[in-house]
Amino acid sequence: MSEDTSIPVRPEESSAGSSVAANLGRRGFLRAGALAAGAGAAGAALRPVAAAAADPANLPPNVPPHSQYLGPGVVTNPYGSPSPFEAEVVRRNVEWLTATTESSVSFTPLTDLHGFVTPNGLHFERHHGGIPEIDPADHRLMIHGLVERELIFTMEELMRLPPVSRFHFIECAANGGMEWRGAQLNRCQFTHGMISCCQWTGVPLKTLLETAGLKPNAGWILVEGADASGLNRSVPIEKALDDALIAYAQNGERLRPEQGYPLRLVMPGWEGNISIKWLRRIEVGDKAWYSREETSKYTDLLTDGIARQFTWVQEAKSVVTFPAPEKPVNGAGYYTISGLAWSGRGRIERVDVSTDGGRNWQTAELQGPALDKCLTRFQMPWRWNGESALIQSRCIDSTGYVQPTMTQLQDLRGVNSIYHNNAIQTWLVNPNGEVENVRVA
Ligand code: CO
Repeated sequence: MSEDTSIPVRPEESSAGSSVAANLGRRGFLRAGALAAGAGAAGAALRPVAAAAADPANLPPNVPPHSQYLGPGVVTNPYGSPSPFEAEVVRRNVEWLTATTESSVSFTPLTDLHGFVTPNGLHFERHHGGIPEIDPADHRLMIHGLVERELIFTMEELMRLPPVSRFHFIECAANGGMEWRGAQLNRCQFTHGMISCCQWTGVPLKTLLETAGLKPNAGWILVEGADASGLNRSVPIEKALDDALIAYAQNGERLRPEQGYPLRLVMPGWEGNISIKWLRRIEVGDKAWYSREETSKYTDLLTDGIARQFTWVQEAKSVVTFPAPEKPVNGAGYYTISGLAWSGRGRIERVDVSTDGGRNWQTAELQGPALDKCLTRFQMPWRWNGESALIQSRCIDSTGYVQPTMTQLQDLRGVNSIYHNNAIQTWLVNPNGEVENVRVA
């Protein structure tokens, strides 16, 4: 197990000499504490919740009330909802991030999820004009531009076509965007929670474009949403004809309103902004449109002043979800380190885990199936000796790409960007079991 004194740290963050990691952790903790003080109820939720103590009256050999009396009958709750004891497992926002909630983001509680599927009520949200309430009877999808036949589909017509169902993650390009200049947010939900993974059901976009008939000079499509922001993006025709999906269902039920009900685009492996929600229009053209969302936004400013544009793919990334700041360790002993890995270019091939800040690595077990452009869970047995530990994960995808350290990423891209941070994350486990977001080289 490593000692704090030997942990490599970025020079500008190394001010405390021998207790560098502890100091880093304290800074991270203090920032998160300041957030908590200013954020009211959401801030209070930042503190790890201790497991509720058992009531001895309900433990063997006593017979608790729930074993003595009838409970509520069927359809007491016709749709169903989680146990009241899981009330902390909710999406959360960071109130100071945005001026309003209509153009804002909420984060998935990754550390409370199991397997690789995100329940529909916990899928992260990113809206630019709030959530429109759309009657599916009033919704249309128009396909026009460089096509042989301009088409307008009703929802009923779309749902007559042969559907496909596929598991894919959707990740906001800005997931981890606050962390480029150092450890900022002391909760995995906020550092990594702009990713979710569902089984999406719908019609391949290819089917609709072939029905419309592409003209020979068709090179791009514009996809546009029906919300008040009219969000739109350009997509090259190759991706549109590859694995793009026009989805009307997620995890076995119709889309949630905040996920685009009644119709959305799912663009597997690409930045979430392109998976246009409330999809109403597809225009076929011969060049990109250079919309706001691909010029002033969703581009990556490099150190030489040049901005990378059309950086669509979400590169391979992983994060440990236990232990994590909101999931502290409860005394020395046996645990299972667990987390999630994904790649916008294919499958997850391997995940390595380090408990000493990246000096030594062990290969974790992948909890299958490891699907294409889908979250994949990994796990590794761990006997914690009660000393400080620096927990990291590093994934490798089916193209051979290895998830970079933040230093490697900054060498390529500087620190100006807020998008496409796929760097290795470090959690510092303190001797008291508390876990903090820290930055190591
Ligand atoms: Co991008």
